Amino acid sequence: MDLALKWWWLTVAVTAIGVGVVVGGVPSETKHNTLVTRIAFGSCANQSAPQPIWNAIIKFDPQVFIWLGDNIYGDIRLPNKLFGKERNIGPWKNTPRFVPATEQEMKSKYEKAKSNPGYSRLRQNTKVIGTWDDHDYGLNDAGKEFDGKVTNQRLLLDFLDEPQDSPRRKQAGVYASYTFGPTGRQIKVILLDTRYHRDPLRSDGSILGSSQWKWLEKELYGSSTAITIIGSSVQVISNLSATTGPFFYMESWGRFPKERDQLFKLLADSKRGGVFFISGDVHFGEITRYDCATGYPLYDVTASGITQAVEKVVPMPLHFLVRFLAWLTPATLRVMDGNCRRKSCTYGMPNFGAVEIDWDATPVTLKIQVRDTDGNPVAGVTAPLSELQARNFSYSTSNKVGKRQRHCLLEVDQPWIVRYRLAILASGALAILVLTMLGMIWLATLCCRGCPLKKKRD
Ligand SMILES: *[C@@H]1O[C@H](CO)[C@@H](O)[C@H](O)[C@H]1NC(C)=O
Ligand SMILES: *[C@@H]1O[C@H](CO)[C@@H](O)[C@H](O)[C@H]1NC(C)=O
Repeated sequence: MDLALKWWWLTVAVTAIGVGVVVGGVPSETKHNTLVTRIAFGSCANQSAPQPIWNAIIKFDPQVFIWLGDNIYGDIRLPNKLFGKERNIGPWKNTPRFVPATEQEMKSKYEKAKSNPGYSRLRQNTKVIGTWDDHDYGLNDAGKEFDGKVTNQRLLLDFLDEPQDSPRRKQAGVYASYTFGPTGRQIKVILLDTRYHRDPLRSDGSILGSSQWKWLEKELYGSSTAITIIGSSVQVISNLSATTGPFFYMESWGRFPKERDQLFKLLADSKRGGVFFISGDVHFGEITRYDCATGYPLYDVTASGITQAVEKVVPMPLHFLVRFLAWLTPATLRVMDGNCRRKSCTYGMPNFGAVEIDWDATPVTLKIQVRDTDGNPVAGVTAPLSELQARNFSYSTSNKVGKRQRHCLLEVDQPWIVRYRLAILASGALAILVLTMLGMIWLATLCCRGCPLKKKRD
């Protein structure tokens, strides 16, 4: 080796060590150099139920699989009690419907999940990463107040094979980021923790908490990547609650409007291109899109769940009703096009998410899909990366430009008669039911005139 070459090697070595130290010092930042073209993701997996969907996921042959939460159902659901001393459902409930499991119970549930034959087979060839949602965090709808979070963080990280010396085991919360692929063809995956620091529902407080916000800011302003996938356990774009209230509310970023604005503003200000969200939680699959956050179509691909699905909880003959209600929901941000299995463009049977990148196409093309148990797409979007690039755009809630246009109009900004369509229909159906019952009672009384009881009294 000549001197110049030696110097060159020395420089490379020192730089590598430097980069290594820097990378090692940043919490939970992991780099992998192999080109990634297929990523799958999923959520809501009951460890005690059969999970046949793994076959379809394995067939898709993902290089990376991302868990988006409810990876196990850790907490314990008590039997429904509408009446009595301890009532856990209805507006008059006075005790919780879910209770946390013990550490031992959580552990054995994780063991069951991890030893599922399909999932075990997937893990042989696929890198598995993930975050959590409420049921694996330890308690239904829980946030920062839940005191099992420290123990359960350890159990989740064990399940994900996080190395014992990983900084992720020392931080408060399970958020993490990964960069896959060679320079120029990199994919960054940012996994958020929407539980550990989350303020109570209805507080309009914080979801991420200040330390995670600082971290996220650094991640988004950091070195650019062709694609950035942000994983959030709960939906970011869709705000279903706006159309299902006052009957029921779901968890979502929409329930924390201030925090959601902050997220959109950060994304817009960072000028990062190629960003999209993936989410879970709701027990159906759909793709939503918001064009007024970053100035380019910002997608949220929801895949939920591996076993849990809204249609499965009602008997087969009523599936049409679930589909009808899904179709009736005025979801302004949902992507409704010819690429859907169902008319509603939601899918209420088990599903998973599939991301494919054609790096060799010009321009590079991104294909994001929700797929069923057979691996067939039920909703999907294909977009050239060149369409997902930041332009001069600043996010503002008062920015009325284009607010009325498709994929910008929020659910809450629809006329009330459209927004509350479901509630109006449900109240109407209830009124008809009550009237019919009253009518029948009246008829019965009429028929009863002159019945034996009455005669006796006379
Ligand atoms: C999970 O599956 C088991 C077995 O089918 C069932 O008994 C249990 O209620 C399910 N749990 C949830 C949360 O759906
Ligand atoms: C989402 O819907 C809820 C319930 O109607 C509402 O309070 C909230 O402001 C909505 N959020 C957004 C961002 O529209």
